[in-house]
Order: sequence, then C-alpha cells, then structure tokens
Amino acid sequence: MLRARRQLAWLLVLAVLLAVLASALGRAAQAGDEEQPSVATVRARASNPIAGERLYAICAACHGTEGGGRVAGEIPVIAGQHPGVLIRQLVAYRNGVRWDVRMEHAAQIRRLGDAQAIADVAAYVARLPTPLGNQRGAGQNLNIGANIYDRRCRNCHGAAGEGSAVRDVPRLAAQHYGYLRRQFFDVLEHRRPELEASHSAAMQGLDRDAIDGIADRLSRFKPAKNSR
Ligand code: HEC
Ligand code: HEC
Repeated sequence: MLRARRQLAWLLVLAVLLAVLASALGRAAQAGDEEQPSVATVRARASNPIAGERLYAICAACHGTEGGGRVAGEIPVIAGQHPGVLIRQLVAYRNGVRWDVRMEHAAQIRRLGDAQAIADVAAYVARLPTPLGNQRGAGQNLNIGANIYDRRCRNCHGAAGEGSAVRDVPRLAAQHYGYLRRQFFDVLEHRRPELEASHSAAMQGLDRDAIDGIADRLSRFKPAKNSR
C-alpha cells in the first residue's frame, strides 16, 4: 500500500516535470516563430491596417508616405502590392533569405515587431493607391521587351503586370525602371537565390537589351486596381 502510494507520488512528480518542460519548449518555439516567423504564421493572423498605419512610419522614411519609393537609392514602389507578396518579402528579409542591409534592418523584430506587426503593415501598404510618376526607361528596347514579356512572363505576372493576389505573384506594373533592372542583374549575379531558382527558365539567355526592354515595358504599364 505504502509502496503503491510512493510510486504514485513519483509519477505525479514526473508528470509535473514533463508539463513544465513541455510548456518551456512551447514558449521557446513560439518566441522563435515570432523572431523568424514563417509566411504561414503571418498569414494566419487577422491583420489590422490601422495598427499597420502606425508601423508604416518606419517604412515612410525610405519608401515615402505614399509608398512610392525613391529613384535615388533604388527604393521600390510598394504601395498597392498584393498583401501576400508583401508578407513574403518582409519574411524573406527578416529570415535572411533576401539580402539588403536597409531592409534587413527595417524588418527586424526589434524594429518592426512580431508576426502580427508584419501582417498589419502589409495590410496597410496593400491598401495604398499606387502613386503615378514612377521612373521609366529611355524607350529604346520596348519592342524586344514587350515581345519577351508576352512570351515568358505574362502568364504569371499578367497582361498588364498586375500579378496575382491569389497566387502571390508580384505586381510589377509602374515600378521604377532602375529598381526592376537591378533585380535582373541581382539574379544574374546570384544575389537573389530564391528568385534565381524560380526564374531560371524565364530569365535564361536574356541580354542587356532584353533586360532593359522588359524593365522599361513594366515601368510603363498603368497600375492596376488594388487587390485590397
Ligand atoms: C532604410 C530604408 C528602408 C526602410 C526603413 C524600409 N525599406 Fe523597404 N526597401 C528598401 C530598399 C532599398 C529596398 C530594395 C532592396 C532590394 O533590392 O532587395 C526595399 C524593398 C522592400 C520591399 C520589396 C519590394 C519588392 O518589390 O520586392 C518591400 C515589400 C519593402 N521594402 C517593404 C518595407 C516595409 C513594409 C518597411 C517598413 C516596415 C520598409 N520596407 C522599410 C529600403 C527601406
Ligand atoms: C511561373 C510563374 C512566373 C513566371 C513565368 C515569371 N514570374 Fe516573376 N515572379 C513570380 C513569383 C511567384 C514571384 C515572387 C517570388 C518571390 O516572392 O520570391 C516573382 C517575382 C518576380 C520579380 C521580383 C519582384 C520583386 O521586386 O521582388 C521580378 C522582377 C520578376 N518576377 C520578373 C519576371 C519576369 C521579367 C519574367 C519573365 C522573363 C517572370 N518574372 C516570369 C512568378 C513568375
């Protein structure tokens, strides 16, 4: 009888220890998930664009209050980008999968905040109307660009560069020419490994004129209606 009771006591102690351990592990995993959240974690949050507007002050310093970016410094237009695409990019910078010191700094948990903050700021940016007056190319290779775009890119990025909110394909319409052009060279020079992997076939064998033409063509598409 006494032995049975002692065994029971030990079992209870063991159960309590296991529970404490499990909760500590759970909390650690949760903290890690906030520090380096997955796209799925961020998407699962109900986003609040009003909270996002407050957070956007961090971004406005570079991307401007309207989200139009800046030609100097090759800061992209982000206003009106699909929310899923914005989330993917912010997570990629935070997790060190996409490299740019300025964005890696801005997307840090200490600066931007947790997974909820990423969801909120993305919701706000997705609702901003795309400002007009982006930088365009010189117009020299537009025919080559239009031709290649229609054959290789249009299927995914849309007839007018509108992308797809459902498939998380970025809107490229009315983006700054210089920024777009640099993305291609970043791929060719292995500075965007994810984009390189997903676009190796589409971007294969493009020469300078083709890259110039595609970037120019995209910069001239009229911004489509926001998906949010
Ligand atoms: C210090 C300047 C700076 C700040 C602050 C900043 N950004 Fe950026 N952002 C950039 C630059 C420069 C790039 C282009 C980087 C590259 O080429 O990868 C960029 C790229 C991006 C992209 C990728 C665009 C695309 O087309 O793929 C997104 C999305 C973005 N920023 C959102 C934000 C948000 C949201 C904030 C605020 C939380 C923010 N940025 C704060 C400078 C900044
Ligand atoms: C199979 C579909 C598909 C095709 C074909 C395709 N893209 Fe994409 N593209 C995507 C997706 C999806 C992303 C987002 C990738 C990510 O989040 O890393 C993307 C991202 C991009 C970006 C990065 C935008 C940014 O600022 O981060 C550029 C630039 C781009 N594509 C240009 C092109 C061009 C030019 C072509 C044709 C030569 C092309 N793509 C063909 C699906 C496609």
